[in-house]
Formats: sequence, C-alpha cells, structure tokens
Amino acid sequence: MIKGVKDYYDDTVNKWTDEWYENTAMLPFLKSCAKYLKENARVLDLGCNSGYETKRMKSIGLNPVGLDFSSKSIEEAKARNKDIDFVCDNMLNDLTYLGKFDAVIAIASIIHITEDNLELCFKRIYDILDDNGYLFMVVRKEEGKLDSSYKTYNDIEYDREVYGYSKDLLESKMNNNFSLIKEEQGLDEHWIYYYYKKIS
Ligand SMILES: C[S@@+](CC[C@H](N)C(=O)[O-])C[C@H]1O[C@@H](n2cnc3c(N)ncnc32)[C@H](O)[C@@H]1O
Repeated sequence: MIKGVKDYYDDTVNKWTDEWYENTAMLPFLKSCAKYLKENARVLDLGCNSGYETKRMKSIGLNPVGLDFSSKSIEEAKARNKDIDFVCDNMLNDLTYLGKFDAVIAIASIIHITEDNLELCFKRIYDILDDNGYLFMVVRKEEGKLDSSYKTYNDIEYDREVYGYSKDLLESKMNNNFSLIKEEQGLDEHWIYYYYKKIS
C-alpha cells in the first residue's frame, strides 16, 4: 500500500533534520521576510518539520511558533528547541486557538495542499493573522501534481502529493484577502518566493 504525506514526513524526519539543521540556504529569505516585521514579531512557521527554520527565525530576532502535522517531526523539534513552542496540527484545521500572528511563513508546505483545499488553507491563515499581517510562502513553479510526489524510501512507497500552482490560481483561492507585495526567484528554477500582505 502506498503511504501518504504525513507518513512520509514521520518516516523521514532524520533525513530532513540531518540536512537542514546544517544548511542555511533559506536564511536570506527569512531575513528578507523579517525586514517587513518589527523586532520580536510573532510568526508561525507553517509546516515546520523538525524546527530548523523555526530555530533560524528565532536567531534573527523573531518570536516563532512551529506547526506541523507530522508528530515525529514535532517531537524532534521540541527536543532540539526547548525555548520555542511547537504544535502538532493540520494547517487545514481551525488554528485560532493559537492566537494572532504578525506573519505566517510557509516554506515548501503549501505545496502539499490539494487544489480543493487551497481556499480553506488561505482562510485558516487569514483567520490567525493580525490586521496587516503577512503571508510569506515558498512554493513550486511548475503546475499540477509533480512526478516527484512518488518516492521510495527504505523500500516503502509514498505519494507525497506535491503540487505546483500558478500565481493566478493561488490568488483565485485567496478571495481578495491578500495583496502581493513582492515575488522572488527561489533557491533554483523550481521554487518561487511570494510575499503577501493581509487586506483587512
Ligand atoms: C517539504 S517539508 C518543508 C519543511 C520546512 N518548512 C522546510 O522549509 O524545509 C513540508 C512540511 O509540511 C508539513 N505538512 C504538509 N502538509 C501539512 C498539513 N496539512 N498540515 C501541517 N503540516 C503539513 C510536512 O509534515 C512537512 O514537515
């Protein structure tokens, strides 16, 4: 039987942890997001995996909370970062119990949301952002379900459900609740960074 997204990230937590606690490639993006925010701004690392970028957010003067639906990733994140709050939850759930944030930073996590759920995903983000809050996201440039969704790891087959969406499609799911302030080429030709501001 093919396993899904959550199982994939539960089963591969060591791989991501080993690579990304060392790899600082996303730091320039985080610093670029921080320029829009005040010192100690409350930010949600949406789809934080084992907390490596959450830790970097803290290191540059932000006040992050990490959220992921992979319980193994959250266990690892908590063990490594006693000074940061982490929550195990699905980003499609009502997250208003977490309070309001100055920004949501979603690095390579909305790529796992199906088109049918994108509108709900942006609504959940909207609901937890302060007035004039920001949504910073890193997404794939290609359109449709990517072949790289299908992965074998330790002889187990996974469908990681990786999707690419055009900017027009993403914005059509935002219900005019966000306005684009900047877009940037990502780490390579597959990735793009979008900076949005909540319209309140
Ligand atoms: C490609 S990893 C990116 C992790 C990290 N943000 C980074 O920059 O490397 C995607 C993460 O999103 C999480 N994720 C995917 N769908 C999710 C959902 N519906 N709710 C919460 N987390 C989710 C996965 O568990 C995984 O940790």
